[in-house]
Amino acid sequence: MSETSAEKGRSDGNTSKHRWKILRNAILKKQCQHTDPVKSVSVRRFASFGLLSTKSIPTESSIDGQWVEYSCPQFSQFCISVRHLSTSFSAGELIGFNNTGNVCVWPSEEVLAFHCMNNADYFRNKTVCEVGGGMTCLAGLSVAVCSNAAEVLLTDGNQTSAKNIQEIIARNKSKFGESVVTARELKWNQRELFEDLGGHFDCVISADCLFFDQFRQDLVDTFDVLLKPKGEAIIFAPCRGNTLDQFCVLAKTKFEVDVESRYDGSIWRKHQDMLTEGKEVYDENIHYPVRITLKRR
Ligand SMILES: C[S@@+](CC[C@H](N)C(=O)[O-])C[C@H]1O[C@@H](n2cnc3c(N)ncnc32)[C@H](O)[C@@H]1O
Repeated sequence: MSETSAEKGRSDGNTSKHRWKILRNAILKKQCQHTDPVKSVSVRRFASFGLLSTKSIPTESSIDGQWVEYSCPQFSQFCISVRHLSTSFSAGELIGFNNTGNVCVWPSEEVLAFHCMNNADYFRNKTVCEVGGGMTCLAGLSVAVCSNAAEVLLTDGNQTSAKNIQEIIARNKSKFGESVVTARELKWNQRELFEDLGGHFDCVISADCLFFDQFRQDLVDTFDVLLKPKGEAIIFAPCRGNTLDQFCVLAKTKFEVDVESRYDGSIWRKHQDMLTEGKEVYDENIHYPVRITLKRR
């Protein structure tokens, strides 16, 4: 099955089935890494909005993965080395914790990273946490590099992702200025393990994490636990069937929820172009990230 049809399965709401399809493709080493920004919107399977440039560092490849330099033509300050993990998983890893964040950097993470750079002033002196950031936490890294945030905590519930993020931080630490940047494993469904972070963050960010049926309430609760009384969450995610709507229903019990599709003119134009010129690979239901903002009532 092609990755396009595997992703279509996800929009039907059959979450675990489509996750296994993703992982099966990963085992088959169907890489979904970014290519250059122009090609990335025209490869057979839609992988990126082409907002960031990537360059593999040929000498920096190992059994664990491949170091890749990410930059952004619009924000020259942003140039970091990130390790894409090897996409072949052992049987043990496959039956372990969810691995969707180790397969690739998903388009929502790319768009969230771009949004953070485009709104860098918003993060100045703030305490910021990324949840479910996958193997790179690219968006949290963009805050760390571009914004003069006070603190940036990068997290994922997958232990392999969390370890990789720690290595990425070590490699890029000269680029964070005064911001204190750390990483840790944080599972939304293990609240007792992050009580120390309660009410600590001005802003919590997240990309493409709303489709886990079994963890959706935990994710809402995690935003609630982590945020300060006047804190805000900024979330980017595709609709993926009705999963985004289901998240909003739950979130409305605790937050004012704002949902915005047309949040950036250039991304909106790329989206419109893909709807016409890229319709063989592009399905807005699974590829176009909507922006959701949560504020406490
Ligand atoms: C589709 S990936 C998105 C990763 C990254 N944000 C991106 O867009 O590239 C979903 C992420 O949610 C994480 N995740 C799933 N369930 C979780 C849980 N209960 N607690 C914490 N993280 C979880 C996975 O480990 C994975 O990295």
